[in-house]
Amino acid sequence: MKVTIVGAGAVGASCAEYVAIKDFASEVVILDIKEGYAEGKAMDLMQTASLNGFDTKIVGSTNDYSKTAGSDVCVITSGIPRKPGMTREELIGINAGIVKTVSANLIEHSPNTIIIVVSNPMDTMTYLVHKTTGLPKNRIIGMGGALDSARFKYRLAEALECPISDVNGMVIGGHSDKGMVPLTAKAVRNGVPVTEFLSEERLEQVAADTKVGGATLTGLLGTSAWYAPGAAVSELVKAIALDSKKMFPCSALLEGEYDLNDLCIGVPVLLGKNGIEKIVEISLSDAEKAKMQESAEGVKKTNGLLEF
Ligand code: 2OP
Repeated sequence: MKVTIVGAGAVGASCAEYVAIKDFASEVVILDIKEGYAEGKAMDLMQTASLNGFDTKIVGSTNDYSKTAGSDVCVITSGIPRKPGMTREELIGINAGIVKTVSANLIEHSPNTIIIVVSNPMDTMTYLVHKTTGLPKNRIIGMGGALDSARFKYRLAEALECPISDVNGMVIGGHSDKGMVPLTAKAVRNGVPVTEFLSEERLEQVAADTKVGGATLTGLLGTSAWYAPGAAVSELVKAIALDSKKMFPCSALLEGEYDLNDLCIGVPVLLGKNGIEKIVEISLSDAEKAKMQESAEGVKKTNGLLEF
């Protein structure tokens, strides 16, 4: 499998590193517009190959999309990250133009590629790629829910004082501080509902901490996080590479699912060699449905800022 990652910044480079270490891809191309930057990151990463034990070939390119030709999966991380106090939505003015240009360049050289969108505001950027490229909807995936769910599990394990491997849970809805919908009532600890271990108040705090997980890190780091975003993307790419039909919450174009239309928002999907193999409609409580509707209104409001 050939994977292209556009953006050699912290998120893109972390994604490249995790894809390489998981060793399911034959080649990873990192592309950036900054002269030599992607080539440097690729060379540094290749010099870990003997230490981390992978055979994946990582190459860098300064804005030469011919190097990306024939990519099976293309990841778009390019654009500006948040600064402390910013919302993801405030990035739309600059990032929309970048994502539109990058996706067109990628498809020119890899017409059959699957695109994974990371750039923020992610749900709106994913919608932009749909509207401007015309790729089949199963081949455009927004990465947000996989990251938010990882933060949800981190907070659940913290509250339960248990190993993270003991918990499971999912976040759906928009990838935004207000729009995320952590499914607290469905989260489990080794198959047992967490509601048997945590009070409603404590679970509300877990959900609240999850929703601002990105902003919390931006406040600490002075910029957006990169390890967990990179790792989350690498898991989506791996599911596609292995045709695993694994279920992740991803931003997908909805056409009536969850009573929602004409937007991209985080819902459970099965990922395989065709990208989104299936959108999974799970049962939601009235409260969860109301939160999804409210989240969708927020995403559509941001979509309204797009100029095609
Ligand atoms: C985050 O939540 C970058 O949106 C990403 O960290």
